[in-house]
Amino acid sequence: MLDRLQDTPPDALLALIAQFAADEREQKIDLGVGVYRTDDGDTPVFEAVKAAEQRLLDEQDSKSYLGPEGDRGFVHALMPIIFGADASMGGRIDGLQTPGGTGAVRLAIALAERAGVTRVHVGTPSWPNHIPIIEDVGLKAVTFSHASEDGSADLESLLDVIRQGKAGDAVLIHACCHNPTGIDYTPEQWEALADALADSPVLPIIDSAYQGLGEGMEEDAGGLRSVLAKVPYALIAYSCDKNFGLYRDRVGAFYIKVDEPAQMSAAMANAAALARANWSMPPDHGGAAVRIILRDEELREQWLAELDGMRKRLRWVRSHLAGADKKVDSVPLAHLEEQNGLFAMLPLDKAQIVRLREDHAVYMAGSGRINIAGLTKGNIDTFIAALADVAG
Ligand code: LMR
Repeated sequence: MLDRLQDTPPDALLALIAQFAADEREQKIDLGVGVYRTDDGDTPVFEAVKAAEQRLLDEQDSKSYLGPEGDRGFVHALMPIIFGADASMGGRIDGLQTPGGTGAVRLAIALAERAGVTRVHVGTPSWPNHIPIIEDVGLKAVTFSHASEDGSADLESLLDVIRQGKAGDAVLIHACCHNPTGIDYTPEQWEALADALADSPVLPIIDSAYQGLGEGMEEDAGGLRSVLAKVPYALIAYSCDKNFGLYRDRVGAFYIKVDEPAQMSAAMANAAALARANWSMPPDHGGAAVRIILRDEELREQWLAELDGMRKRLRWVRSHLAGADKKVDSVPLAHLEEQNGLFAMLPLDKAQIVRLREDHAVYMAGSGRINIAGLTKGNIDTFIAALADVAG
């Protein structure tokens, strides 16, 4: 029976982790999977997380099951950060904890399917796991272009999808720090998008995996909030993996916005049933640490200060790359300064990406995506020289 299984390649992005680890060259540069790194190239545990974990260790008196919704204190403590002061919109937003942002995306697509969605529109390029999740749930993924040639977001393509969409359609939108392009919608574009969605049957599914790593915590939530203010229904996938640095602890949340508070109980019951069928209950530890941070003023300030430092460093990398624009003829870099988050796309072909790896020990995704957080004061000029060598 199992001999019927066809071989399937490992996820190319995650395979880079092992390839990089196996490279013995000292000057190697990892621009692959999306994790934040300090200027020393490390991905340390946040100080605020360490303190919250210590408190958890001291105070936790049971590890008994919590149920498919996970830690509701965590889910609710996050809401004002994501949705603003009127976080529940009068009982029209609620959610549950998920294993990472990936679990939240999975739940969003599965709940959309239960609600009658058959097609999900995805702006491409997108996070390489979006389309596999949509197809694994059994829905059709339909693509449109996310970015225009001038490096801005291609709003018209998205508006076309929304205007022509029918009942049974959903559209997947990145809240901020677009993965992989770094190209976000402007506040004006978000308003236009919100107006279009308000007049359309297309269900918005918003993936927010990098809040705080773009312009700021509030700024990065602005677009999502503009949409939620206008649409009757929306699904939101949220990740704490990056902005709390909890990657392997898998900390995420899934939120549902309904039109009328009376619709919430059925929506949540379906989400909980899907969670139960998929993973039963989410892992607790990371979500509990986030809850402790968000409920304690001092830890919360400490966390925000750490996040500020990360964002400032990413800005420095972007401006340093932009300053090297003239050094690499065929790879424009100036626009990277205008973009947000961990990622940028470089117009390199497969052979150039292989040469970067083989000749210069620079590891990046085969799509041309780089994780700019892998660049430090110590290696950024080496990287620019390597880029000039393969693409100059
Ligand atoms: C990435 O895009 O590199 C991250 O979101 C990690 C992942 O799960 O792919």
